Amino acid sequence: MERNISNFDEYKKEYAKSISNPEQFWEEKAANFTWKKKWDKVLSWDFTKPEIKWFEGGELNITENCLDRHLEKRGEQTAIKWIANKPNEQSRNLSYKELHSEVCEFANVLKNNGAKKGDRICLYMPMVPELAIAVLACARIGAIHSVVFAGFSAKSLSDRINDATCNILITADGGFRGAKITPLKDISDEAMKSTPSIEKCIVLERTKSRISMQSGRDIWWKEEIKKVNADCPIEIMDAEDPLFILYTSGSTGKPKGIQHSTAGYMIYTEYSFRNVFQYNEGDIYWCTADIGWITGHSYIVYGPLLAGATTMMFEGVPSYPNAGRFWKIVEENKVNIFYTAPTAIRALEAKGLDFVKPYDLSSLKVLGTVGEPINEDAWHWYDKEIGNGNCPIVDTWWQTETGGIMISNLAGVTPSKPTFATLPLPGIQPCLVDEKGEEIKGNSVEGRLCMKFPWPSMARTIYGDHKRFKETYFSTFKNKYFTGDGALRDENGMYRITGRVDDVLIVSGHNLGTAEIESAMDEHENVCETAIVGFPHPIKGNGVYAYVICHNTPKNEDALKKEINDLVTKNVGPIAKADKIQFVSGLPKTRSGKIMRRILRKIAEGDTQNLGDTSTLLDPAVVEEIKSSAQ
Ligand code: WTA
Repeated sequence: MERNISNFDEYKKEYAKSISNPEQFWEEKAANFTWKKKWDKVLSWDFTKPEIKWFEGGELNITENCLDRHLEKRGEQTAIKWIANKPNEQSRNLSYKELHSEVCEFANVLKNNGAKKGDRICLYMPMVPELAIAVLACARIGAIHSVVFAGFSAKSLSDRINDATCNILITADGGFRGAKITPLKDISDEAMKSTPSIEKCIVLERTKSRISMQSGRDIWWKEEIKKVNADCPIEIMDAEDPLFILYTSGSTGKPKGIQHSTAGYMIYTEYSFRNVFQYNEGDIYWCTADIGWITGHSYIVYGPLLAGATTMMFEGVPSYPNAGRFWKIVEENKVNIFYTAPTAIRALEAKGLDFVKPYDLSSLKVLGTVGEPINEDAWHWYDKEIGNGNCPIVDTWWQTETGGIMISNLAGVTPSKPTFATLPLPGIQPCLVDEKGEEIKGNSVEGRLCMKFPWPSMARTIYGDHKRFKETYFSTFKNKYFTGDGALRDENGMYRITGRVDDVLIVSGHNLGTAEIESAMDEHENVCETAIVGFPHPIKGNGVYAYVICHNTPKNEDALKKEINDLVTKNVGPIAKADKIQFVSGLPKTRSGKIMRRILRKIAEGDTQNLGDTSTLLDPAVVEEIKSSAQ
């Protein structure tokens, strides 16, 4: 394993080198991997097309780098440590050797069922080791995996299968999630009524639920595996061959199939994993995300395995059987590095310390967050109650499209600042631009976050729709990748992500980040979570509308509204005070925990009829409640 950056000076040197000579910088990182053929050219790029190529001419297979090359040194080391949903079910440890052989066997199952290089294979599975095995088996034979989060509906699943014309679907009879069972095969059956491209459906037995199997199409994993051996040579891939597609929502209803390539993704996920989390040999690392999201792809499966780490996988949810589950798992497995989402932190914080205190969390060294801006209150709670004030928190900003962490402190190595993602990783060249696309130079400034230069793990296209790729990311600002986020850069050059630009509110000519106002309101002891949207205001242009969830039902709503607004005045300024505050019991969230602001904006505007597509909501009932009590 290559050495990690170990102090701030070293970071500055690495960063400077990565900017002055990016090709040499990444070439040195690439040299640590196993290649079948060396590359001819490190980088060629043109953001106007856009066309980005890293390590062109190189040949490799990512699974040889995740598995085979570790066998000699760490064959017996645990690669995947799996924790079941039910607390009393035996966990499973797969050593690198075992994982390697299971991946090879399943890769042979895929081949036996007609899969070949370039095919698209859809995975709709619970968080069990076989999901990681199936992902790697696809990569081993050069098939492009498209993992669909197991919380999506039949319609979402069939849309994604059809968009990529997948020929194989891998699923399970069901999935355990808290006290519930998700009927994955039933949902798949419903989806497959309208997916003509699917030839085979491979079914893993997990819940032993009663399901139907269509003969000729549906086959059992356990039966197929009996027919194969564990000898499966790698398929040799070009550096730029696609590795996977992962769907993400866009501004229109149609999801975007973000497509990643092989070599650049490999190099960047490994490098960022080691350096951001300061992973050291032997550390137990746990990322609580689902493999159905990019965080799970890059920082449960690929990054950690490429680095030869022990990566944990958890099948369940943080609240089952109670809100102490995460901390119990940390104690039992002596977790050293823990990576989760702010929404989970806030939810657990709201349940109180009785669920934290019983557990010994002293194994923890590094904490991380991802997915949304973390508010100050949650940051401090995480730091004090979980980290005991001893663990650096890495606030990692990145996107499905970026493939890996872009802006983040390196744990304990570069400075941290609550609610700031802080500094770019080596090789990452962020900039802020104004509405006209002019770069805003200097510090203590705010603007739209763009990238000026390619990095190895950036998305290469939207599957089947390169035009949309260009329009979404490379057309808003000339010669730049546009992230869709707003950010500010403080006096020390540190970045704070203020939220999606579509969430920025211009109030009386002032730019306000919704996240900033939310963070201020969240400081109130009775406030659990908030969501801010704009609504048309005759004088200010936009007014501020706040949806607020309280810990306890307010005794005097008006008094509480005043207290909340006093906090906004104090933290952001009087201009940001909410014009309307509505107390609600829940917020409309997608299954990945993102608030659907589009719906909240409509309700705030007084339009409760045309809420658009609400099919991806976790709990549609919450919308009815909000509508009925709207101000
Ligand atoms: C937001 C998740 C603030 C941001 C890896 C981004 C964040 C979007 C952070 C991508 C963070 C992610 N601080 N905001 N640390 N991390 N975001 O594609 O708006 O699910 O554009 O990727 O999440 O979400 P995605």
